[in-house]
Amino acid sequence: MKALVLSGGKGTRLRPITHTYAKQLVPVANKPILFYVLENIAKLNIKDVGIIVGDTGEEVKAAVGDGSRWHISVTYIYQDQPLGLAHAVKVAQRFLQDEPFLMYLGDNILLEDLSPLVQKFNNSSPNAIILLTEVANPSEFGVATLNEKGEVIKLVEKPREPESNLALVGVYLFDRHVHKAIEHLKPSWRGELEITDAIQWLIDNNFRVESHIVSGWWKDTGKVEDLLEANRIILDTQTDCIKGELHNSTAEFKVVIEKDAVVKGSKIRGPAIIGKGARIVDSYIGPFTSVAPGVEIVNSEIEHSIIMEGSRIVNAGRIIDSLIGREVIIQRSQNHPRAHRFIVGDRSDIELL
Ligand code: DAU
Repeated sequence: MKALVLSGGKGTRLRPITHTYAKQLVPVANKPILFYVLENIAKLNIKDVGIIVGDTGEEVKAAVGDGSRWHISVTYIYQDQPLGLAHAVKVAQRFLQDEPFLMYLGDNILLEDLSPLVQKFNNSSPNAIILLTEVANPSEFGVATLNEKGEVIKLVEKPREPESNLALVGVYLFDRHVHKAIEHLKPSWRGELEITDAIQWLIDNNFRVESHIVSGWWKDTGKVEDLLEANRIILDTQTDCIKGELHNSTAEFKVVIEKDAVVKGSKIRGPAIIGKGARIVDSYIGPFTSVAPGVEIVNSEIEHSIIMEGSRIVNAGRIIDSLIGREVIIQRSQNHPRAHRFIVGDRSDIELL
């Protein structure tokens, strides 16, 4: 079995971070989302992994490399425009050939062991297995309708009036027949070749499509709130580990302080992670905060936030529920006139007291 990871696309809902950055590389608990995906694939003993990349391909390549870190072999497949999940499969056809494959959306985090599912696919050979989970906001996903026997009869992509609350999770198993299904597709209302429609084609043409309800936690990290939730869940699974230096400071409850990080005169209340080489001085870092490597926080309070690499936060007061990009500077100025001063990118989102 091969794997196909989708790491192209636009990342519209995470702008401005994704103006300059692949959304699949945004860190959750200081690790890019895409790395969780590759770890899960490696655990399944799948060695041959294709990664779909688009405009942000160079960054993805720089971060992932040849995959040897996970003992997998990575082939990069360039999709020149994000024309849909089924379009990505089409572009990958030469890589996939006629082999069965696991398709995994590069912005999905799933805390579930997928091996029973792969075993089921190998043993009973359905044409596809889809993963479903109950959600509160089904119209933001592909939605499945099951019959009384629990069989999938209908799939609709982001329906205005969903028939159920069962959303399609971004992990799928396919055999070669999906390529035939894709040949028959027309672009949807959003101009994309939808994998949802390909699966519907399989159902309508009497191929076997099975479903599995996800038992563990799952998140599509397309939006800031979802990223912060993913960050909460992952940080909550960690145990204390202090490798950096603590001076005149306290660190309590599920706190990870990585090598070469320095914490002075501060309080860290976990779950939280402080990355390699970060400096925290006279500050408070509250629960569910990820501070990336090389960040400097001085005389400020931060809680329930993700701060990405190389940012500086100085005399900034209290910051909560925030996603702060790379090499951002936030500082209180001593200059007159006393006023807020911004140099921010397009579509930034700033809330003032
Ligand atoms: O997360 C689950 C949902 O994912 C499903 O419920 C939906 O049925 C499915 O269509 C998909 O919906 P999204 O609108 O969230 O997909 P998104 O455009 O965010 O793309 C998912 C991943 O695939 C993301 O990492 C970007 C990548 N991608 C996307 C497109 C459209 C590509 O690599 N190429 C593409 O052409």
